[in-house]
Amino acid sequence: MDRWIAATHGAELRRAADPTAVDLGYGAAPWTAVELLQRLRTAAPRTRVVGVEIDPARVAAARPYERAGLGFRHGGFEVPVEGRPTLIRAANVLRQYDEDEVAAVWDRLRARLAPATTASRGGLLVEGTCDEIGRRHVWVALGPEGPRTVTFATRLGSLGRPSDLAERLPKALIHRNVPGEPVHAFLRDFDRAWAAAAPYASYGARQRWMRAVRAVSADWPVRDRAARWRQGEVTVAWEALAPRG
Ligand SMILES: C[S@@+](CC[C@H](N)C(=O)[O-])C[C@H]1O[C@@H](n2cnc3c(N)ncnc32)[C@H](O)[C@@H]1O
Repeated sequence: MDRWIAATHGAELRRAADPTAVDLGYGAAPWTAVELLQRLRTAAPRTRVVGVEIDPARVAAARPYERAGLGFRHGGFEVPVEGRPTLIRAANVLRQYDEDEVAAVWDRLRARLAPATTASRGGLLVEGTCDEIGRRHVWVALGPEGPRTVTFATRLGSLGRPSDLAERLPKALIHRNVPGEPVHAFLRDFDRAWAAAAPYASYGARQRWMRAVRAVSADWPVRDRAARWRQGEVTVAWEALAPRG
């Protein structure tokens, strides 16, 4: 997720006057915020990261790790930082909430993002879910205007088939992996393409994944290119996967 943010949002972070990235709900230890800072600074060296946690004990535990460009604050969806962040990342936070709460939380967080201007698309909200060690990860990216994309990311060597990622769909989609819903149809088509790409497995899972993504891109609005597919990712337009109704 950090790599994807640096690649897709690095230019916005470089352009911003005060590039602030928020790691919302960073958890029991500060490592995700520490790693986010390191990763984003490779793309945008002036970036600072603020970790925000609703649990005061977790803020106290993170404080010793504060350093130039990295701070921790107590708070929640109000996002208690000055100004409008260039990035808000919320990983494995909304999975604790109910599906019908997601839209309001998204709206609240989007309203905190840096606004779009003639020179910028504005800030980015990245909200998703992964397994414990980040090998399977799915996230939605939203701009100030609304949801943009859904990204599926996996460590390819550990993947049985693309629909293995279904168990890590973000809250807005995880209850929609049922017949009749677009995300279910996408994963079904992706599994078919993966099966059809089996002959490429002898060249490695990466070649098989790239072949399968190329095949699904004939029918689905894939928004990224082979350089990202090589990383075990695929990004699809939100409109194509959004829940019905
Ligand atoms: C499962 S942990 C995720 C930790 C880390 N982001 C990760 O992906 O490894 C979820 C964290 O979100 C925090 N959290 C829940 N609701 C929150 C909110 N409204 N604002 C900030 N943090 C919140 C919880 O206290 C918890 O530490």
